[in-house]
Amino acid sequence: MRNSVDEAWILVQEYVKEKGLRRHILAVAAAMYYYAGLLGEDQEYWETIGLLHDFDWEIHPDLNQHPMDGAPILRERGWDEETIRTILSHYTEGTGVQREKPVDFALLANDEITGLIIATTLVRPSRNIGDVRLKSIRKKWKDRRFAAGVDRDHVQAVTDDFSRVCFSGQLDLWAHIANVLSAMQARASDLELDGQLAR
Ligand SMILES: [Fe+2]
Ligand SMILES: [Fe+2]
Repeated sequence: MRNSVDEAWILVQEYVKEKGLRRHILAVAAAMYYYAGLLGEDQEYWETIGLLHDFDWEIHPDLNQHPMDGAPILRERGWDEETIRTILSHYTEGTGVQREKPVDFALLANDEITGLIIATTLVRPSRNIGDVRLKSIRKKWKDRRFAAGVDRDHVQAVTDDFSRVCFSGQLDLWAHIANVLSAMQARASDLELDGQLAR
């Protein structure tokens, strides 16, 4: 039996106090939910994966620990091995767990790009994601000093993998970014990107 979205969110609230990390987690969950809908997959399950993928980053803020050391905690809380395997697959370099299923590829494709979209929103005076157009993200994408932690080549590579596995190679980078943007816009208030942080 699978645990629920609500249980995943309770776990996140317990382990993640920092607002920025919560926003990242919620953004990835929104994108996962969106893509599950598009692909006819289980939206609640994909959202759960998004919520859980970085739940241990605040307690394990190091790639020698994350996400490996989060796995026993999930196991203890009754999360199933398949969920844990998917979470471990978002860092194959450290875990040795390969991506196999659509949900695995979606997770990685949605992970970093949300960071560029959040950063693009937060430099606008309105801090409202509803005002963000693809054009602005494109400009920020080209300026590699902006949100420099977002590795553009890695985002392109994981998007290509996701496209190949789930869209017969037909999902290009900018269609993907447009999808993630609209998934996040649909949850603007959860992300506190609806203007509530306006300067
Ligand atoms: Fe992670
Ligand atoms: Fe992440």
